[in-house]
Amino acid sequence: MTTTYETLDAKPLTPHIGAEISGIDLSSPLSNAQARDVRQAWLDHMVLVFRDQTLTREDHKNFGRQFGRLHIHPLNHSRSGDEEILMVKTTANSPYTAGNGWHTDVTCEAIPPMGSMLYITEMPEAGCGGDTLFADMYLAYDLLSDPMKAFLETLTTVHDGALPYIGNYNVAAPEGQSYPKNEHPVVVTHPETGRKLLYVNSGFTTRIKGLAPAESRALLAMLFRHIAETPRLTCRVPWAENTLTFWDNRCTQHHAVWDYQPQSRYGERVSILGDERPVS
Ligand code: OGA
Ligand code: MN
Repeated sequence: MTTTYETLDAKPLTPHIGAEISGIDLSSPLSNAQARDVRQAWLDHMVLVFRDQTLTREDHKNFGRQFGRLHIHPLNHSRSGDEEILMVKTTANSPYTAGNGWHTDVTCEAIPPMGSMLYITEMPEAGCGGDTLFADMYLAYDLLSDPMKAFLETLTTVHDGALPYIGNYNVAAPEGQSYPKNEHPVVVTHPETGRKLLYVNSGFTTRIKGLAPAESRALLAMLFRHIAETPRLTCRVPWAENTLTFWDNRCTQHHAVWDYQPQSRYGERVSILGDERPVS
């Protein structure tokens, strides 16, 4: 069931989300036709997995720049020495691993990144473990009942950076700054595909405006459970060294699987700035 684009092949991981892409080397600049095909495959499959890519940091960033300007993470204290590179590092002594819960990246920002590219270069010694789960938020919306969809379309939520960054990671905001906090509709229309999707995530979404606190908590809990307990929404990406995965951060969530302790895993992420606020 491989779809052929003009310049690459896409082998789906599931019928609706995820594809392994072959026939392309990301270390050299893409031709216009290749860039167009990657973008189309990304819109079609949401999560693209590229194997056996040997990339320098510059190559990784240049691949990102083919799709837009690069994002600087509000938590990035630039341990890598490069603000556009986010290190994703877990060792035996890590108190937590980043992304170990269902989330969409940085939705506390007014315009969250449109996509992220995670490049894993060091696998756990066992050579397996540390897979990432991705979930399709178009399908999460489609599976809701019509009355629930209609109600959700009237609602707006708060997405607060303090929830994960202080709540989970115990990292205070830099001196004199606070983490971003912004409002987004519960149901969003994807700016390129025009499809509706569910836009709440347990990583950042703290409350639904206009509802009583108990109502907000209950409705968010129902939606988070819907995402966490519907396996058909998901695909699972098993990594290998030199695999890069490029996901559409506008219509997916992801969850790191930390099953390799006390072994280590290392990768670097580049994210691409979105160009508009999520709108219903
Ligand atoms: C991320 C993230 C998951 C993983 O890089 O945004 O959530 O499996 N990573 O490392
Ligand atoms: Mn993430």
